[in-house]
Amino acid sequence: MDAIRIYGGSCLDGQTTIQGSKNAALPILAATLLIDGTCEIENCPEISDVFHMQRLLESLGCTVEREETLIRVDTAGLSECDMPSDSVGVMRSSVMLVGALLARTGRVCMEYPGGCVIGARPIDLHLRSLRRMGVTIKEQEKGFCAETPGLKGAEMKLPFVSVGVTENLILAAVLADGTTTIEPAAREPEIQALCEFLQSAGAHIEGSGTQRLVIRGVDKLTPVRYRVPADRIVAGTYLCACMCAGGRVFLKDAPVHHMESVLEQAAAMGAAVEYEPDGIVVTGMDHAGTADVVTTGCYPAFPTDMQSPFMAVMALSGRGGRIEETVFENRFRIVSELRRMGADITIHGNTAYVAGNGRLHGAIVQAQELRGGAALVIAALGADGTSIVTNRHYIDRGYEDIVLSLRDLGADLELA
Ligand code: EPZ
Repeated sequence: MDAIRIYGGSCLDGQTTIQGSKNAALPILAATLLIDGTCEIENCPEISDVFHMQRLLESLGCTVEREETLIRVDTAGLSECDMPSDSVGVMRSSVMLVGALLARTGRVCMEYPGGCVIGARPIDLHLRSLRRMGVTIKEQEKGFCAETPGLKGAEMKLPFVSVGVTENLILAAVLADGTTTIEPAAREPEIQALCEFLQSAGAHIEGSGTQRLVIRGVDKLTPVRYRVPADRIVAGTYLCACMCAGGRVFLKDAPVHHMESVLEQAAAMGAAVEYEPDGIVVTGMDHAGTADVVTTGCYPAFPTDMQSPFMAVMALSGRGGRIEETVFENRFRIVSELRRMGADITIHGNTAYVAGNGRLHGAIVQAQELRGGAALVIAALGADGTSIVTNRHYIDRGYEDIVLSLRDLGADLELA
């Protein structure tokens, strides 16, 4: 039952409400460790990565309660600072607990988080940056222990933009002694949400959403209630589902103001987008026109997490085109699976060239990571015949019940 069977050919019609953002909820849940008392985080998606973060917080001694999408975290009982290896190995984003735990307890030990198929995804820049804030890190074969007598503000000149490093440094800096500058900082909406959450708890952060963050350490943060914004990548995925399957869908709560590059690309590929006060209505795509070009980059450029779903659209578009991946060194794992469905795609370096044959046929394909797995499902919606996507657990890491959501929109699919 770790698979999805999809009967291609049904158009989509109706409305779906976009879940809370995984990549905002995870760092905000980590940030609750900085606050003595109980924080209430609303609109947390019911996905396995968030459940994992809940278990990590509990393993550290926090009390964590969930009521549907509301999560209450009481850190009064925080005691542990050794993170359980089974949890860390499964989820790379556990690394962002390091900055928060150093700020709260002064010590943390953890195994190196697993890399994954989209690239090596080391944490060298995380560790190098924390050392500049007065952290001693003893690296062993499988992991490391980090300690500090007290985090010190520092001027961080990073060699490249990293979402996770920016988040970790923000968490380490908000209670540090002195001022920390981070440049170039990541500008993603999820970073802006993290800053907003911390500012509401009393943190002094300037430059949120820009490439230069200035954080003046404070003595204490106070518990708050905060609502996680909607997930722009999930919204983009359902946009692509409608482009692949055809039809007309209302994406309620889609964070339009954070989807400019994605909506621009979708319109260039023939999707009709109508803006409503609380979301967008998307109508499939036309198949005429010239070849499309997509280049991923750091926000506000086209997001790397939307690269695979748009490759599925491109393979069905009849126009074809090319996709250049500039963030991760190995994020074309979906290509071999789309080829099984009849796609004609060649890869040269970090660019995939997609021929515009415009049709795919059903096949048994394997999800190998989160966004590629979701892209295979939406490709199958537009394919002729039946497909089976295995390794559904990858998709469950980031999407709340994708089968039910798509079925409610008229797709014909089931757990297999
Ligand atoms: C975050 O990953 C997101 N994950 C990713 O989303 C997203 O694709 C990525 O940012 C880019 O936007 C979460 O927010 C939980 P990076 P992160 O550090 O922080 C290299 C999804 O599907 N690097 O910005 O890991 C790294 O290997 C996921 O939701 C180092 O070399 O991404 C990559 O090539 C997938 N050393 C590049 O930087 C380091 O110490 C950018 O990665 C850290 C990163």
